[in-house]
Amino acid sequence: MTSHTSGTSGTPSTSLTSHHVFTPHNILVTGGCGFLGSNFVRWVVNAHPDVHITVLDALTYAGNVNNLAGLPADRVQFVYGNICDVDMLRHVVPGHDAIINYAAESHNDNSIADPDPFLRSNVIGTFWLLQAALAHHIRFHQISTDEVYGDLALDDPHFFTEQTAYRPSSPYSASKASADMLVRAWYRTYGLPVTISNCSNNYGPYQHVEKFIPRQITNILTGRTPQLYGSGANVRDWIHTEDDARAVWAILTHGRLGQTYLIGAHCEKSNKDVLRTILELMGKDPDDYEHIADRPGHDRRYAIDPSKLVTELGWHPLHTDFRHGLEETIRWYETHRSWWEPIKDAVEERYAQQGR
Ligand code: NAD
Ligand code: TYD
Repeated sequence: MTSHTSGTSGTPSTSLTSHHVFTPHNILVTGGCGFLGSNFVRWVVNAHPDVHITVLDALTYAGNVNNLAGLPADRVQFVYGNICDVDMLRHVVPGHDAIINYAAESHNDNSIADPDPFLRSNVIGTFWLLQAALAHHIRFHQISTDEVYGDLALDDPHFFTEQTAYRPSSPYSASKASADMLVRAWYRTYGLPVTISNCSNNYGPYQHVEKFIPRQITNILTGRTPQLYGSGANVRDWIHTEDDARAVWAILTHGRLGQTYLIGAHCEKSNKDVLRTILELMGKDPDDYEHIADRPGHDRRYAIDPSKLVTELGWHPLHTDFRHGLEETIRWYETHRSWWEPIKDAVEERYAQQGR
C-alpha cells in the first residue's frame, strides 16, 4: 500500500498537487448487503481483481445476504454483525486497510415514524466504527447523502456544493449530518485518514421496495395503484448506482484526505415525471396513479454540482440515459420477483400504518 496525504496537521490539505494514490487490498464494507453497498461490492469484485472484501452487515429488514449471491467466496467474506457492537469490531476491523461505511438506516419515512434506530446505527454506529478505525489508523470513507444540505427551491438556479451549509430536514438526514460531523472531527482532532462522499438519489438493481422507484414498479407489477406524495412536483437528482460506486472508488483511492466530495450526475426530474415514465415504459396509462398524503417536512428539490469530483478525480457518469436506465431497472424487478415478492406486502402494510 502506498501512502496517502497526511491528515495529522489538523488542517485539511487544499493542495491539488498533494495527491497520492491509495491502493487498498483488503477492504471492510459495512452495510454491504444493502442496495448501495452490494452494488459497490459487485463493482469492486469485477473492476479490481486484487482486492479482497469483507462485508459486515447486521441484516436489518433492509439487508439481504442474497444480494452477494454469485460473488466468489475467495474474494468476498460475509460477517454478520452490528457496527454498534464494539467487541465484535475489535475482532473484525484489524487487518483491513480501508473501511467504507455504507451501514445505515436509510429511509426518510421510517425515520419520521421512529427515529430511534437512525440515531443508533447512523450516529452511534459511525462513532464506534471511527473509534475502531482510529485504533489501527485505518483509512475511512463515509457514505453520506446530499440530504444533509436540506433542500432547494424548485426555481433556485443554484446547486449543492461542498461549501453549502448543512440544513437537514428529517431525522434521517439529521442523523447522517451528525455522522458527517463526527467523521470531520476525527480527521481534524485525531488525524484519522478520512473522506466523505455525499451522493444524490441512486437507482438500479437491488433497491429496497420501500423506496420510490422500486415501490412504484412493484406496485404496478402487483396490480396496486402507484402513489405520489403531495403534488409530485418535488425534484430528485438521479444517478445510477454503478456510477456512484465508481465515484466512491475514485474518492477512496485518489481523494484528498479530510475532504468531502459531492456525487451527482445532473439528472434532475420531478417525481411526477419519473412516475409517468415508469408507467409508460410498463405499457400503462401515464396518468394512472393517485396523489396521497405528503411526507411531513418533504424536501422540495435536491440538485448536485459534481464539479470537484469531475475536475479533481476525472470522474464522469457512464449511465447518462435515465430513460434507458429506468427501463433496465424495470426489467430487473420483472425478472427478480423472488427477490422482492416476499417483502412487498409487509412494506405496503407499514406504509398503510403511516397513512401512505
Ligand atoms: P439500505 O437500507 O438498502 O442498506 C443499508 C444496509 O446497512 C443494510 O444491508 C442493513 O442491513 C445494513 N445496516 C443497517 N444498520 C446497520 C448496523 N447498525 N450495523 C451493520 N449493518 C447495518 O441503504 P442504501 O440505500 O444502500 O444506503 C446505504 C448508505 O448510502 C446509507 O448511509 C445512505 O445514507 C447512503 N445514501 C443512499 C442513497 C440512496 O439513494 N439509496 C443516496 C445517498 C446516500
Ligand atoms: P425516496 O425513494 O424515499 O428517497 P428520498 O426521500 O431519499 O429522496 O423518495 C424519493 C421521492 O419520491 C421523494 O420526493 C418522496 C417521493 N415518494 C413518493 O412520491 N411516493 C412514494 O411512494 C415514495 C416512497 C416516495
